Amino acid sequence: MENQRHTSFLFVSLFLYLSTVSSEKEWLVGKDQRNGSEALKLLVFGDSYVDTGNWEKSSGSWHSPYGMTFPGKPTGRFSDGRVLTDFIASFFGVPSPQPYMWRKSVKKPLFQYGMNFAYGGTGVFNTMVNQPNMTSQIDLFQGLVKENFFTKQDLEFSVVLLSVAGNDYAAHVFRDGKEQDLPNFTGSLMNQLEVNIRRIHSLGVRKMAVTAVEPMADGPEAAARERRIKIPDLRSSHGLHFRTEDTRKHCSSLNPLKPCCVGSGKGYSCGSTDEKGAKKYEVCKNPELSFFWDTIHPSQSGWESVYSIIRPSLYELY
Ligand SMILES: *[C@@H]1O[C@H](CO)[C@@H](O)[C@H](O)[C@H]1NC(C)=O
Ligand SMILES: *[C@@H]1O[C@H](CO)[C@@H](O)[C@H](O)[C@H]1NC(C)=O
Ligand SMILES: *[C@@H]1O[C@H](CO)[C@@H](O)[C@H](O)[C@H]1NC(C)=O
Repeated sequence: MENQRHTSFLFVSLFLYLSTVSSEKEWLVGKDQRNGSEALKLLVFGDSYVDTGNWEKSSGSWHSPYGMTFPGKPTGRFSDGRVLTDFIASFFGVPSPQPYMWRKSVKKPLFQYGMNFAYGGTGVFNTMVNQPNMTSQIDLFQGLVKENFFTKQDLEFSVVLLSVAGNDYAAHVFRDGKEQDLPNFTGSLMNQLEVNIRRIHSLGVRKMAVTAVEPMADGPEAAARERRIKIPDLRSSHGLHFRTEDTRKHCSSLNPLKPCCVGSGKGYSCGSTDEKGAKKYEVCKNPELSFFWDTIHPSQSGWESVYSIIRPSLYELY
């Protein structure tokens, strides 16, 4: 990924969730017996931690070895398999919501379980990738609400998942933002996040889960620094069911630092090829033993272990 090179922070802090996806069938066909307008809809905004294929198919997450564990080929997910969105969808017993990008190419009933507006590499503010920031993602959603693609009743049955990982901080540092400015920058980021949350709320969604933003210093590409960020407490907001959670103690038995897929040599990263198309990366033997898939993104196993921790908090959103 273009943006990986500059990322110097790593954020693994999230929330939500439930039962482990035990079979492919379960993954594709949710257990939620409701369908049509009454089906629970998962609406997803944010970055690569939750994107399930919004980037165009020429991009890195659509190339091998991404997707090798599940479903066995690239799907635009920034992992070897399932990402946070998929585990959360499984919690609610619905299929993972279809990417916004596909709204014209897949049949509308496939969107009865929601839609994914997240784009890898993006942030609350503009970052290094030319893709919709969170405000623009919400604009896309609002457009569909205006068109009645999502109805008032749909919104009533919706749960929103917001992911804000490290791209804003990476962009800030890359633009020569000084480290001592970070607390200030963090403050404006949280303010904008609050604006976003209130906006989604005002559109009629009542249940939201937000990744607790926290730049972490113990990722593979990160330096030994740490900063805590407090998300504004919106839980008192009228009618808004809001949940954030810090999941710090997630690594369990997985290899916490060594990514599974790495570039072979300087200038290469996971998925790189040279001018002749030759592979310029190496993949570890057992991705399920690595918490990180590449230098930024958790593996499916990594996400599963995060999920096991945040899962109890998800019941509040049911
Ligand atoms: C939707 O629900 C109805 C009634 O509960 C059921 O008969 C129908 O098969 C369901 N459709 C799908 C696509 O699951
Ligand atoms: C989001 O992106 C749009 C389009 O580039 C830009 O006009 C807007 O200022 C951005 N929003 C934020 C909060 O940075
Ligand atoms: C934070 O940034 C704003 C806008 O640049 C500035 O006005 C303010 O003084 C800064 N605050 C601190 C504590 O640096």
